Amino acid sequence: MTTWSPTQYLKFASERNTPAQDLLTHIPIQSPTRIVDLGCGPGNSTALLAARYNTPSTTSITGIDSSPDMINKANTTTTADNISFAVGAVESYTPDAPVDLYFSNAVLQWLPKGERLQVIKKLVKGQKAGGVFAFQMPDTLGEPSHVIMREVAERGPWAEKLRGVGREEVESLEEIYDVLVDGTDGVEVDVKVWRTVYYHALDGHGEIVEWVRGTGLRPYLERLGEEEQRGFLEVYEGELRERGVERSGCWDWIVYVKLGLWSMRVESSYSEKNMVMNILQGCRDAGMQNSGSSEISKYRDISPSSLGLFTHQ
Ligand SMILES: C[S@@+](CC[C@H](N)C(=O)[O-])C[C@H]1O[C@@H](n2cnc3c(N)ncnc32)[C@H](O)[C@@H]1O
Repeated sequence: MTTWSPTQYLKFASERNTPAQDLLTHIPIQSPTRIVDLGCGPGNSTALLAARYNTPSTTSITGIDSSPDMINKANTTTTADNISFAVGAVESYTPDAPVDLYFSNAVLQWLPKGERLQVIKKLVKGQKAGGVFAFQMPDTLGEPSHVIMREVAERGPWAEKLRGVGREEVESLEEIYDVLVDGTDGVEVDVKVWRTVYYHALDGHGEIVEWVRGTGLRPYLERLGEEEQRGFLEVYEGELRERGVERSGCWDWIVYVKLGLWSMRVESSYSEKNMVMNILQGCRDAGMQNSGSSEISKYRDISPSSLGLFTHQ
C-alpha cells in the first residue's frame, strides 16, 4: 500500500479543491440523507460536502480512506456529530444502509483499470432510485509532468526498482459512459460525463515537483532510499526546466485534465424510452457528439478561475 502525506497534499489545497467544488455544482440531488465521501483524504472534500448539505439533524456524512494518516488528519477537521471518518478501501466498502450520494474526488484513478467501473456499478446497484454517484478522476498521464516522470523512472539508475510502478490510464469517456449506462440486473441509470482542463499557475518548476510529490510521484519515491530520491527529484526538475514544460510568460503551469461524472439510479418506473429521450434532449441542448454506441456529453471547459487567476492560499 502506498503512503500519503496530508501535509504535502494540502500544500495546494485551493487548487486541488477546485474540481471537487465544480463537481458538487453538477450534482442534481438536493437533500441527501446519507452521504459517503469515498477516498476523503484529509477531509477537504468532506468539508465541501458539509458546506453544501450540512443539516445535522437529517444528514449523515461519512468519509472513508485507505490511508490512516489521512483519516487522522480528517478527524481533526470537525467535531460535528453527523460527520464521521473511518479507514477503509473503496473496493471493499459495503454500506449498512442505502447511500443517497457517493462522492469521490481524485481517488478512483488509483484503482486497477479492470476493477474501477465494476466497483462503481456495484455501489450504484445498492442505491435507491434517485441516488447519485459523483466522481472525478484526473486524466493526466499524457501531460508533460507525468510523461517526464515516467521517462526519468525508466532511464535512471533506479530503473530496475521502479519497473511497473505507477498507476494505470483511466478509461476513455466513451468507455466509461458505455459501461456505466449499461446498468445490468434491471438497474437503470442516467449518466453525465464531461472533461475539464484546469491550468494552475505555479511559481517555478520546483512547485510542479512539489505538486506531484503529493500525488503521482509517491509510488515512485517510496520505493527509493533517501539519496536516490534526491537524485530522482533533481533529474526530474532539471528535465522539466530544460524541456521548458508549460512555460508561460512568468509562470510554470501544471495542466490537470479532469474527467467528471455522475450517474444516477433512476426510478424503476422510469421507462428506458423516457431515459433515452431525456439523454438525447440533453445532448442536443449541450451540442454534444456521438461516441459510437452512445450519445455523450463532451465539452472542453476552461473557466476564468481555471486560467490561473486565483491567488494562492
Ligand atoms: C488525491 S487524494 C483525494 C482526497 C480528497 N478526496 C480530495 O478531494 O482532495 C486521494 C485519496 O484517495 C485515497 N485512496 C487511494 N486509493 C484508495 C482506495 N482504494 N480506497 C480508499 N481510499 C483510497 C488516498 O489515501 C488519498 O487520501
